[in-house]
Amino acid sequence: MSDNHAKMKHSIGTSNRWEMYLDNREVILEMRNITKKFPGVTANDDISFSLKKGEVLALLGENGAGKSSLMNVLVGLYRADAGSIYVNGQKVSITSPSVSSSLGIGMIHQEFMLVDTMTVAENIILGIKDLNLVPDMKAISEKISEISEQYQLKVNPSSYIWQLSVGERQRVEILKLIFRGANILILDEPTAVLTPQESKELNGIINQMKKEGKSAIFITHKMDEVMAFSEDVYVLKQGKLVASKRTSDTNPKELARMMVGREVLFQFDKGEYKPGKSVLTVKDLCAVNSKGLEALKTISFEVKSGEIFGIAGVAGNGQQQLIDSVTGLQKIRCGSVYINESDCSNKNPIDYIKAGVSYIPSDRLGMGVAGTMTVLNNLAMKGYRDKPFSSHGLLIKSYFKKFAENMIDLFRISTPGPETIVKFLSGGNIQKAILAREIDSCRNLLVAAYPSRGLDVGATQAVRTRLIEQRDEGKAVLLVSEELDELLMIADRIAVMFEGEFMGIVDSSNTDREELGLMMTGMKRDQVK
Ligand SMILES: Nc1ncnc2c1ncn2[C@@H]1O[C@H](COP(=O)(O)OP(=O)(O)OP(=O)(O)O)[C@@H](O)[C@H]1O
Ligand SMILES: [Mg+2]
Repeated sequence: MSDNHAKMKHSIGTSNRWEMYLDNREVILEMRNITKKFPGVTANDDISFSLKKGEVLALLGENGAGKSSLMNVLVGLYRADAGSIYVNGQKVSITSPSVSSSLGIGMIHQEFMLVDTMTVAENIILGIKDLNLVPDMKAISEKISEISEQYQLKVNPSSYIWQLSVGERQRVEILKLIFRGANILILDEPTAVLTPQESKELNGIINQMKKEGKSAIFITHKMDEVMAFSEDVYVLKQGKLVASKRTSDTNPKELARMMVGREVLFQFDKGEYKPGKSVLTVKDLCAVNSKGLEALKTISFEVKSGEIFGIAGVAGNGQQQLIDSVTGLQKIRCGSVYINESDCSNKNPIDYIKAGVSYIPSDRLGMGVAGTMTVLNNLAMKGYRDKPFSSHGLLIKSYFKKFAENMIDLFRISTPGPETIVKFLSGGNIQKAILAREIDSCRNLLVAAYPSRGLDVGATQAVRTRLIEQRDEGKAVLLVSEELDELLMIADRIAVMFEGEFMGIVDSSNTDREELGLMMTGMKRDQVK
């Protein structure tokens, strides 16, 4: 709260009047009657909303509901078919991102847009038009440091982007927008890729922005964030605005119901835990990261058939190297990896696929899909070599179509049809396509990295149900997640990773958030107990 706000609150006393004061704040942005159509879908159907100074508005909706499209219209990446936009009461025509930027509107996209091989400072000034021919990098660095101080956005201006973690990259994106004078920040699922600690920091940054009188539109699937970050919440469903509420007048359950259109259960039916033989056997595994530093220090564990084995921990503690080592994506330094009885240590990814291993990668756009191919081909990518997709080297086209339609239905992938090019789906629906393919093609072991990241509540529930189904069918599931609730709900055993080691392996029925949390900070199980 700025000083003025604080004084005002004090002088008017009751919270009712305070609410009135909030209501009377100046409207700085309005989108009126926006309609945006794509071939086969109406992404936004006559949507209107307004944003006030110093306010955070949460935009909620299922995957494919039209959130990113609406914001892309606002920043001039998409042209609306109908409707108008007002900034500070003036009607504006936002024909490109540079127009929105000059109006003080900036967006952080679901996929970051930084140049890896350039430094933080270079990225921040990239594309600014009114710079000198030879920019004064010293002055620019100073201004960056000043802003990072003010907003507690710690980054080194001379670091290269490739050297930064995801959380740090996001800070650079925010810095970039503030540097360019943005008053309205659009954050499209900013915490989907952040660790819980980084999300907390982001909360602090947003509060600081509010104090400075800046406003934000915040897209998220996480209900607790809606409750913590926003003053107002708007719910989109299939391109339409179905609710707008004061955040203080609603709750996560109601929001979930408005989003999905039915009651969302946060409980799961799980068969009895009956672990069978070991499917994945990892013994004394050690490996290095891309910088050649030790990332895994002699790790041993087994994932059995009929079991979900969870890996908890703050991202960056060796999870990626562990996943890569058990899917053939990276070489191991020592130890061994067995799938069933066969030694797969240092074999290639194709050998793992042949051994019945499926993999849902965390970097789904980079690794998981071929963006320019159709939904159908992406879904069939894994199985096309074998029956019933092909017979005697010939592809059975009719089966492909039937299969794709079935998957689209089962995973509720929102797409105009199987022939749509994947990159035109919404972020969450691209993820659902990969999940569908990998879960369906799993024969022995399913490695799932952060499978519910970026998914709406309904889809998250569906994915968890599918993972449990795999387990109940006798497959082994290795589930890497940062969400302790997810692990506690569906995993049978949980290992906590810290600095390339397991701090302990616990039965999920015999642990809690607190114990896991302590182990995540580097305490061994026997120290916790
Ligand atoms: N460039 C495009 N070309 C064709 N269709 C598109 C394009 N961009 C979005 N769409 C379609 O518009 C609809 C809304 O997509 P949008 O990306 O806005 O959803 P979203 O609410 O952001 O979902 P998510 O939570 O999955 O990110 C989807 O059906 C999507 O396929
Ligand atoms: Mg989106």
